[in-house]
Amino acid sequence: MSLHLDYTATLAEAVGEQNGIRQSELESLRRTFEDTRSDLIRRHSSGELPFWDLPFDRETISAVDSFATRARERFDSFALLGIGGSALGPMALHGALNHPQHNLLTGERRNGCRFFCPDNVDPDLIGAVLDVVDPADTLFNVVTKSGGTAETVAQFLIIVDHLRSRLGRNWREHLVVTTDPERGFLREFARRKQLQTFSIHPDVGGRFTVLTPVGLLPAAMTGIDIQALCAGAAALREVSFNQQFDENPAALFAGLLYLAQTAKGRPIQIMFAYSNRLYPLADWFRQLWAESLGKRFSIDGSELFTGPTPVKAVGATDQHSQVQLYVEGPQDKVVVFLGARQFGRQLPIPRLGMEAPETGYLEGADLGELLNAERRATAYALTRAGRLNMTIELDAIDPPHVGALIYLLEAATLYAGGFYRVNPLDQPGVEAGKRATYALMGRSGYEQERKDMESLEASERRVVDIPVNR
Ligand code: PA5
Repeated sequence: MSLHLDYTATLAEAVGEQNGIRQSELESLRRTFEDTRSDLIRRHSSGELPFWDLPFDRETISAVDSFATRARERFDSFALLGIGGSALGPMALHGALNHPQHNLLTGERRNGCRFFCPDNVDPDLIGAVLDVVDPADTLFNVVTKSGGTAETVAQFLIIVDHLRSRLGRNWREHLVVTTDPERGFLREFARRKQLQTFSIHPDVGGRFTVLTPVGLLPAAMTGIDIQALCAGAAALREVSFNQQFDENPAALFAGLLYLAQTAKGRPIQIMFAYSNRLYPLADWFRQLWAESLGKRFSIDGSELFTGPTPVKAVGATDQHSQVQLYVEGPQDKVVVFLGARQFGRQLPIPRLGMEAPETGYLEGADLGELLNAERRATAYALTRAGRLNMTIELDAIDPPHVGALIYLLEAATLYAGGFYRVNPLDQPGVEAGKRATYALMGRSGYEQERKDMESLEASERRVVDIPVNR
C-alpha cells in the first residue's frame, strides 16, 4: 500500500537545462525547508497546528461513527449545506470512495444514505434538491465553521422553513449542525433548539477540515470507512516531518511546484486526474492551494502579490480539450498527474473479432489499462515537449490511500507557505468578499462598505445590450 510521487519530469535531466529544475535549485531550498520544518514542529508541539493530529482523534472519529451507524438506519438521504472548505472535502471523499452512481443505487446496494451537496445559492440547484429528497427521511447537515457565511445561512433558513412546514415539531431530528464548539450564531441556535451537533476545532481552518466531522460525518453517513480513511492519513504524519528534504514528499512536492513558478516561470499548476473518482479531489486541492498561497502580504508584512494558479483537469476527457494547449501553448504550466495503479473494478474490452486496425489493439485490454496508457502517453508527450510534469500514483483508490493523499497535500500546503513566505492558514481576500456581500444584502454594521460600493458602481459604466429574438 503506497502513494508514489514521480517527479523525474520536473528535472533538468528529463526536460532540458533550460526548462527543468536543476539540483542546485532544489538545494537552494534546503535551508528554507529546514526552517519551515522546525517551525512546524515547534508550532505543532505547542498545540498551534491541531490539523496535524486530526487522524489520531479517536474520540471524534468514534463519535461520528456511532452517530452515523444509527442515523444510516433511519435516513435514506443526507444533504450537506455548506460552501468552500465546508463542502469541497466532503465532495472529494464522496467522489473518490462511493460508487460513481451512488444516489441511483437501490438502498440494498448502497452502503449508506444518498448524498447531496448543493454548495451554492443558485435557486435552481437548491430547489432541485428539495424536489427530489423527502424531508421525512432526510438528514440535513448544516456545516459552517464561522457560523455566519451568507450562502450557508441562507440555505439553512430555507431548510429550517422547509422542515418545519413538512414535519411540524419533529423538524429538529432532521438537522445536525457542524460548527465552532463555542462561537457563532449556529452554535447558539443549536444550543437553544437542542440540536445534534459536531464541533470543528477552532484552530483548524475551513479548507483543512476534511478529516474533522465536516468530512467524516458525510463520509460515514454514505458508508465510507472513516477509520480506514484516518488510518491512511495518520501514516503520513511522521513522513511529513521527515528531516531529509528529498525523503519528505510533502516538502518536495511543495518545493518543486514553488520552483516551477519562481525559477522556471510556470505559475499555472494543473492537477490532471486520470480517474473520474479522483477528479473532485483535484477540485478540493484547487481551493486548498489557491486560498492558502494566493496572498498579497508575506509573513513579515511586505507586499508580494504571490501564489500559484491551480487548475483542475480530468483525463482522458481533457486530452480532447486542453492537452493541445498544455503541449504547445505558452511555457507557463506544470502538470501534476493523479492516477491509480488499480481501479475499483476491471472492465475488459471484449474481443468481437472485427479484424480492423482500429479495434484489434484494444480488444482484450482492460479499460483501466487504456486510461493509464493515456496518462503515461500524455506525460511522455509533455516531457518530450520540455513541459514540466510529475505524477502521484495511488496503489488503489480506497480509504487509506485517499486519506494519505489528503494528508500529503495538506502538509505540502504548509511547506509551500514556507517557500512562498506567506501564511497558508488565513484568507483575508475571501473575508473582504464576504463583508461586501453582507453590505449589499443590507446587514447592519456594514453600512460603510455599502456606501463605498455604491459610489464605485455609480461611476460611468460601459455596457452593451445584445437583443435576443424569441
Ligand atoms: O477555507 C476557508 O476558510 C473557506 O473556504 C471557508 O471554508 C468558506 O469560506 C466557508 O466558511 P464557513 O465554514 O465558515 O462557512
